[in-house]
Order: sequence, then C-alpha cells, then structure tokens
Amino acid sequence: MKRFIIVGHKASTSGDFSLNDMPGGAGRMDVLCRCVNSSLFLSHDLRRDVECYLVLQGEPDPPKTILFSGERVRYLNPDERSAGSLIKKALAATCRDEFSESTKGVYVRRGGLDRLLSEFQVALLDENGEDIRTMAELPDAYLLSDHMNFAEEEEALIQDVQKVSVGPKILHADHTITIMLNEMDRRENPSEL
Ligand SMILES: C[S@@+](CC[C@H](N)C(=O)[O-])C[C@H]1O[C@@H](n2cnc3c(N)ncnc32)[C@H](O)[C@@H]1O
Repeated sequence: MKRFIIVGHKASTSGDFSLNDMPGGAGRMDVLCRCVNSSLFLSHDLRRDVECYLVLQGEPDPPKTILFSGERVRYLNPDERSAGSLIKKALAATCRDEFSESTKGVYVRRGGLDRLLSEFQVALLDENGEDIRTMAELPDAYLLSDHMNFAEEEEALIQDVQKVSVGPKILHADHTITIMLNEMDRRENPSEL
C-alpha cells in the first residue's frame, strides 16, 4: 500500500464550511482536496493501492484525521468540490478514537500526526532531501505539508525522518504527489517505458 499524509495546518475540523469558500473559511481545504485527487485519480480510473490521510489542525476541534481509501472509495469525482463534500460529511459524522466510515471508503478519527507517525514508517517529502532519481528503493509512505511550513513541534516529531526530494524547486503538495507516484509507476512498469 502507498500512503500520503498531508498536514492541513488551518484546515477546518467542522463540517460547517462552504464548498464555495474552501481556500478561505475552510483553512485551505482546497489544497487538501487537490492532494486527495492527485493521490487517488488516474484518467478514468482510481489508484486502488493508495491511501490518502488528511491531518486537519484547524478550529474548532483539532486534530482530526480523514482517510480516503483508493480501494474502497465511492462517490468521489475528480474535482475539488467532490472531495470537499466527502470531507464535510466526514466532519459531520461522529468522530471517535478509531476510524469510522462516514461514506464508502472515507473514514474519520481523532488524533493527528503523532499517531500516524507511530503507525507507519514515513518519509518526508522535502526539496532538500535525497533525489528520488538516485534512490535504489523508494519508501511506501510520505508526509507533506499544505501551503505552510511545518510548525516547531512538528519539526521535532519528524527530525529523524528520511527526507526525499522530487526536484530542486518548491512545488505545490498535489504536484509533488503526482511526481512521486509517477516515479513509482515507472519503477513498477519498466517494460512499458
Ligand atoms: C507548497 S510546499 C509547502 C510550503 C513550503 N515549505 C514553502 O516554503 O513554501 C508543499 C509540500 O510539498 C512538498 N514539496 C514541495 N516541493 C518539493 C520537492 N521539490 N521535493 C519534495 N517535496 C516537495 C513538501 O512536502 C512541502 O511541504
């Protein structure tokens, strides 16, 4: 299973936000929606071997984690509003300590980055990391930030994590995911190159 974890530093933890104002009132939820789409969508198909975890750290009830499972998700279309609508439903559902399903293949639970780091061996996607083109093996799970830098307490949690770079420029998180998955695709299907 491939995994992408994206930290939404200001992303709303209430389902009350408007789909018309995801960049503003929802705390850049649009960035997270694009990351869901980059993680899961192929043209006319889904990546069933990918999970996308959104760590929501905005008000009023942080932190919460939403999981989109490529294997099980339904009702997701490749536009931001579609992902946003499933996030709204997840946030309107009862949030427990363990994941519970809000709509098919979408899950929500309490807790944030520290919990995910204890569950998965994660590499940090970072422009100053090791170049994916020269790495013999690629990790399965990756951590990204939204539009903001990681906070000091997050930096402390990830200080010993392997850093991996897709290139020299700072990209948007969703574009970074696309490049990372492309590199994995090429390695899995060398005869199709
Ligand atoms: C828009 S950037 C975050 C803000 C960024 N720290 C800044 O200084 O503006 C979103 C995320 O994409 C990932 N990222 C961006 N460029 C990258 C690159 N060249 N290699 C690996 N990851 C990258 C990182 O995980 C980063 O946290």
